[in-house]
Amino acid sequence: MIPISKPLIEDEEINAVVEVLKSGMIAQGPKTAELEDMFAKLCGTKHAIAFSNGTTAIHAGVRALGISDGDEVITVPFTFVATANPVLMERSKVVFVDISEDDFCIDPSKIEEKITDNTKAIIPVDLFGQIYKYKEVKELTDKYNLKILEDACQAVGATQDGNTAGSFGDVGAFSLYATKNITTGEGGMLTTDDDEIARSAKMFRHHGQDEAVRYEYLELGHNYRITDIASAIGVEQMKKIDRIIGTRVRNAKLYDEGLSKIEGIIIPKIIGGNTHVYHQYTIRVTEDFGHTRDELIAYLKENEIGCGVYYPKPLHLHEHFRKMGYKEGDFPVSEKLSKEVLSLPVNPFVTEEDVEMIVEKIKGFSKK
Ligand SMILES: Cc1ncc(COP(=O)(O)O)c(C=O)c1O
Repeated sequence: MIPISKPLIEDEEINAVVEVLKSGMIAQGPKTAELEDMFAKLCGTKHAIAFSNGTTAIHAGVRALGISDGDEVITVPFTFVATANPVLMERSKVVFVDISEDDFCIDPSKIEEKITDNTKAIIPVDLFGQIYKYKEVKELTDKYNLKILEDACQAVGATQDGNTAGSFGDVGAFSLYATKNITTGEGGMLTTDDDEIARSAKMFRHHGQDEAVRYEYLELGHNYRITDIASAIGVEQMKKIDRIIGTRVRNAKLYDEGLSKIEGIIIPKIIGGNTHVYHQYTIRVTEDFGHTRDELIAYLKENEIGCGVYYPKPLHLHEHFRKMGYKEGDFPVSEKLSKEVLSLPVNPFVTEEDVEMIVEKIKGFSKK
């Protein structure tokens, strides 16, 4: 089976973990600081602060932006639930806005009608590894004095107009989960240029303690720290980021060439000014294909080709959000695309021959 995702763990990662284990410093320590420095450099931000996962990084970001009781936060329903849950954890309201068909990210033309006096922030998501339409969103946040928390969990290393994901907002958040382009098993990172946000995020991950003064509790906080065991993996991964992204981009280009002529298949579009890091290579299988998306999945699985659907149901149609009054028909683009999307393997273990074989299989199936 060609897996949809597989972390690139090599001798460097294994040796780095062994070194940390032998060092005796296995909780948050110097390796985490090293990983943070690498992230800040990559993203071009003043600060990068490591977390136990992407969800906790987003939570710290929400908290640092002062989002609390009764505030409204705009985001998309076509994402992983962790984009929205931290807003609810701070007793704020999640207000969904539909996505654009071309990039699967927030549709800037639909935001303004959702802004109220209670709106505090927007959380755009760089879905599948492409940065959202920043300029259009920024015009609105400037006009209405709102904050941006960029959910860059899937987009480490992606760029727009020469700037890097994690720098397209007041706060950026990354996931270092096992399937992500850069992984620490579980892990996360928050990026910001703002000293006050950085201070708040550091305290939040550390039980409200200033890192320099232990056992002085200044605010409410959690234990949201990462370990140096995990960070050691991340440091080695970051050294290979060009190779990791490069292989994904090469595979994506081969798919583009092979699949673009097949009727009923829509290949991913790169918006002008963007580079895509293909956390997922996601096609759309439309009616003209002659088979349903789910029939294609079954066929690929029969042929030992892994694939995935991200996401089979937009957030607003889950019980958790339906309770808030959302219903079918509220976000037609998200609803339509959730029935069409199919992600194909582009991970660093996927060879050119694998992609060619997968393209041929899909071509053959389309004619049946
Ligand atoms: C868009 C998005 N947001 C948030 C998260 C949460 O990250 P984590 O799973 O590391 O908590 C993820 C990753 O799973 C994600 O893909």
